[in-house]
Amino acid sequence: MKKIVIDPITRIEGHLRAEIEIDENNIVQEAYISGQLFRGIETILKNRDPRDAGLLAGRICGVCTNSHFRAAITAVEDAYALELPKNAQIIRDLISLALFLQDHVVHFYHLHLLDYVDVTDALEADPKQTSKLGHQFSERPYANSHAHYISVKEKLQKFVKAGKLGLFANGYWGHKAYKLSPEENLLLLSHYLEALKFQTNISQAIAIFGGKTPHPQTIVVGGITSVADMLNPQRLNDFIFIMKEAKAFIDRAYLPDMKLLVRGYKEEIKQGLGKGAGNFLSVGGYQFDKNHRLFEPGVIFGGDFTAIHPFDARQITENVERAWYDGDDICYTDLNPDGTLKTAGNRDKYSWIKAPRYAQKSMECGPLARILVSYYQGNELIKPFVDSFLKETDLTMEDLHTTIGRNAARAIETAYIAEYLFRFINTLVENIKYYDTATWKQYQFDTLPGESGGKAFLEVPRGVLSHFVEIKNQKIDKYQVIAPTTWNASPKDSSGQRGAYEEALIGLTLQDSQKPLEVLRVLHAFDPCIACAVHVIDAKGKEVGKFKIEQNCLL
Ligand code: MG
Ligand code: NI
Repeated sequence: MKKIVIDPITRIEGHLRAEIEIDENNIVQEAYISGQLFRGIETILKNRDPRDAGLLAGRICGVCTNSHFRAAITAVEDAYALELPKNAQIIRDLISLALFLQDHVVHFYHLHLLDYVDVTDALEADPKQTSKLGHQFSERPYANSHAHYISVKEKLQKFVKAGKLGLFANGYWGHKAYKLSPEENLLLLSHYLEALKFQTNISQAIAIFGGKTPHPQTIVVGGITSVADMLNPQRLNDFIFIMKEAKAFIDRAYLPDMKLLVRGYKEEIKQGLGKGAGNFLSVGGYQFDKNHRLFEPGVIFGGDFTAIHPFDARQITENVERAWYDGDDICYTDLNPDGTLKTAGNRDKYSWIKAPRYAQKSMECGPLARILVSYYQGNELIKPFVDSFLKETDLTMEDLHTTIGRNAARAIETAYIAEYLFRFINTLVENIKYYDTATWKQYQFDTLPGESGGKAFLEVPRGVLSHFVEIKNQKIDKYQVIAPTTWNASPKDSSGQRGAYEEALIGLTLQDSQKPLEVLRVLHAFDPCIACAVHVIDAKGKEVGKFKIEQNCLL
């Protein structure tokens, strides 16, 4: 048995570590996923005014700022039993849904694509053939002119001629696991560059209702403050305009690109690479009229799609048997005498991430979980999006439960949200037209209960986010967060059950144990956000590892 350590492993929030045990055939036998930074926003929140919970919790992450901001305020509102005006709910949903589009596109192109696309190989592409290729996957392919591909190729050539790949440096270029043709590589890379503009535009859209982004600041306990923006037709139009452009990119570039990727890596999908334990969790949400919501709540156990169980928050527990905690205390004892971290084995503690469990089971959350649960719960809105993608790519629902399938689910979800986001805007406009302009639930803070508890469960881009707050004497007494990556990147628990990342790695074959590209694919496909998963910065948290992956990106 040989051990491989990959650290850090993400292109953002880069303090995720993977220790992999492979046998003599390079097949993964065991995996230890570790969050390497100890943070403690929950501790910082103690004794604070509950109305400040959002602004503080938003700092848990630099990427998921809005998700924590909103969840914290929602938990406090739950504690005070404050009912939100409809418009405030819609504005919050619009900010969240715009973030879904941004996160998913950034993830696909800037954080994950280069695991599948060989940059150096794109230099061999024929621009004319690339343009033809574009038409195979879309009736109106995005930025698909012959001239455009010539210019993209020239840009890439400049990097290479200068003797450095710039932002594309340090990839496993030339790895045998790269399977796309030069033209396919060039096409995807051209959209990599276009997606940078997309990212900027969506930020502007979020800022229309959020005040700014990252770290929007217009959500307050009881409502929202972006009242003037909501009531200004020009501001609404600006938002709609950006969203229409975003939808065009998603429909004409992202979704077709996903189909291309599925075709190129079909074999891996059919082999079931990246399949996990089959336990999926979704809390649902995003209701835009009386009878319609984007996502259904539900739980799937052991890959049995025929039985969707109702979601019950009381089934959630947290286990710290294999995390560096001892009950509520931190026990960070895994340093070697020379200050390096010990590698994990047998019964060791090995992560700052706790192990949340649902009905004692290790769960996967995120786009795939949402798609599966909503589809099998009979959500009529999502069904055509899933069915048409499967039909065009010749995949089954089972196939989605793989590494490439997780990416496909994310792309399907993005197209779905980009379509239905406009229904939320319609509802908002209707409300305003009929003089429902309320944005804040009036309350007297002094008269609210001094002691209370509240919780919030939200679907956010990476999965299920939950915040729990306990208030005493009008101050926060206890605070707790379980982020999507806490679920997915969790370590083992008392019963030895693996986390979702770990489970997905078992049985994977590495072509080259010195270049564990396959491991990166499996883990990146979950879109890890480790800042979210662990919450107190510790000066002792050291980076160690045999492989240092320094995939730069333009973020
Ligand atoms: Mg951060
Ligand atoms: Ni995050």
